[in-house]
Amino acid sequence: MTAVIAGGATTELRWRVNHVGSMLSTRARLEADVRTGLVASPPTLPPRWFYDERGSRLFDEITRLPEYYPTRRETEILAARANEIAIRSEASTLVELGSGTSAKTRLLLDALTAYAPDLLFVPLDVSVEVLTEAAVEIAGRYRDIAVDALVADFGDPLPPLPGDEGRRLVAFFGGTIGNFQTHERHAFLDRVRQAMAPGDHLLLGADLIKDPNRLLAAYDDSRGVTAEFNLNLIEVLTRELDGRGVRPNDFAHVARWNADKHRMEMWLRARCDIDAIFAAIDLPWVLPAGAEILTEISVKFDLGALHKELRAHGFAVTAGWMDRRGDYSLSLLRAI
Ligand code: SAH
Ligand code: TRP
Repeated sequence: MTAVIAGGATTELRWRVNHVGSMLSTRARLEADVRTGLVASPPTLPPRWFYDERGSRLFDEITRLPEYYPTRRETEILAARANEIAIRSEASTLVELGSGTSAKTRLLLDALTAYAPDLLFVPLDVSVEVLTEAAVEIAGRYRDIAVDALVADFGDPLPPLPGDEGRRLVAFFGGTIGNFQTHERHAFLDRVRQAMAPGDHLLLGADLIKDPNRLLAAYDDSRGVTAEFNLNLIEVLTRELDGRGVRPNDFAHVARWNADKHRMEMWLRARCDIDAIFAAIDLPWVLPAGAEILTEISVKFDLGALHKELRAHGFAVTAGWMDRRGDYSLSLLRAI
């Protein structure tokens, strides 16, 4: 299903926002996720539900926190390498998965439009408000590019990618690749590769293994913005499913380093007995004080192992860059 939900033009169509994907409404999807997730062991909810309008704003705030280094590191690498990426990829289309505000992406758009002024930009995200804002902003700033924004879930099959085969660049920033479970990451890389043609490029940002104390600070900042972001999940659930008898303050944000799986884990721990009901779907929710829900994982990678995995998924490593401190990596990969 595709439906144009917003668009704007002066003399020609310069930006539009399309809905792509299953007929399942957001509500039905949330209901399914809650019904299966809350009885799983441990209870788990998919991270996409963080990103309502408030959650997207909170994430944007996270990216500017002194403790949250990934955004600054990725920006540093992009600033140094954008021109090289433009030359090597020869891209005439840029697809950005999980694009959010596309703030850093402007560095890449500057470089790409120097060679391809009439670039097609295809940001894809679940968060319609932030996506629309970014589409309008970017269409306004870059007068010759077309913005074809897609409201979609990158966990679903990808829509056919627009643009010329061999000249597409698919960017996946923010270390979001780390937010998948291992089997989900493999399935995701297969889907992305299948959607690409040989010669197309993937630009992948990945956070690297480092001192756990720095990781803990990045995911549990002193101002409590990350805690608020995590707790917003309860806000979304109670609003969308008419939750009664539960409030965000009934939970505490917990960030933990899992050394075995080299990943950060975000949990919500019940601070009291929860005896609630999601009235909209007639689902009771009982949780003893101290019980925890896993709301996000953020895998930290070894760059060699990541490149090996990418080769196994049909990509050749064109380049792998790190920031000066070696915190974060950006890899350019060619679909073969
Ligand atoms: N690329 C931005 C944002 C990263 S945060 C950056 O580098 O800063 C993760 C982004 O992915 C958010 O914008 C969120 O709305 C989006 N997102 C999360 N789950 C998603 C899903 N299942 N499908 C599509 N987008 C998703
Ligand atoms: N993709 C981001 C990351 O893994 C998402 C994120 C940052 C996040 N901080 C968070 C998710 C705190 C949940 C809680 O770095």
